[in-house]
Amino acid sequence: MSQKINKFINKKKKTKLVCLTAYSKNIAEEIDQFADLILVGDSLGSVLYNFTTTRKVTLNMMIKHANSVRLGVSKSLMVVDMPYNTYRTKSEALKNCKKLMKETKCDAVKLEGGIKIKNIIETLTKNKIPVMGHLGLLPQSVRGKFKSKGKSDREIKQIMRDAKIIEKAGVFSIVLECVASDLSKKITKEAKIPTIGIGSSVHCDGQVLVTDDLIGLTNSKIKFVKKYVNTKSLIKKGVQKFRSEVLKKKYPTKKYSY
Ligand code: KIV
Repeated sequence: MSQKINKFINKKKKTKLVCLTAYSKNIAEEIDQFADLILVGDSLGSVLYNFTTTRKVTLNMMIKHANSVRLGVSKSLMVVDMPYNTYRTKSEALKNCKKLMKETKCDAVKLEGGIKIKNIIETLTKNKIPVMGHLGLLPQSVRGKFKSKGKSDREIKQIMRDAKIIEKAGVFSIVLECVASDLSKKITKEAKIPTIGIGSSVHCDGQVLVTDDLIGLTNSKIKFVKKYVNTKSLIKKGVQKFRSEVLKKKYPTKKYSY
């Protein structure tokens, strides 16, 4: 395990972990100093490309966006999502993860799933590819409406079992998406690695949000999204001012001309 990843794991129980997504250099540069981990999430499919499912995101799209993000990340752990259908078998996962790591210089990859991908996680970690897990609501597997997870006895048992299995298989951290509060608390207590919640209560070791949601660049109505700043209105103000100055021939003055 790299020093950077050990440092991340060791923060469990000492301080909460702050995780954010980025899809480009400009955002990554601004959030790097405030984050422990920056995730190039396949949520970029819906956030940037209006895809109705993350299943349409390709490995090449992830590589291109990760290349841009890499330029803005100097201190945080940089993790990249492996998109749908890129880790169906051990050999496919190994080939694609190696390509992604080599071409983006990211620190780790993130894979969605529990027992079904146990062997894949083991293969990757044995080959020195650090893996972050993702349990609860799995956007790559969802058909239809997004629902919270871990309320029925069956789901509680299954998610608890999956958390133990993927920890044993070697993941260094687990994202818990839309997992019921009591279950997140239990998994966090029993796991030796950090849990990172998204809509999964304050009991997790850290939190992640899609940066575009929290800075108000999207119109997300998801329950767990809190808009901390209204970037859209700032953009509107700046662009309106530019438009008005261009129309009134106030811009560019001598200062802004050669
Ligand atoms: O794709 C993504 O951005 C994610 C996080 C929100 C956890 O998986």
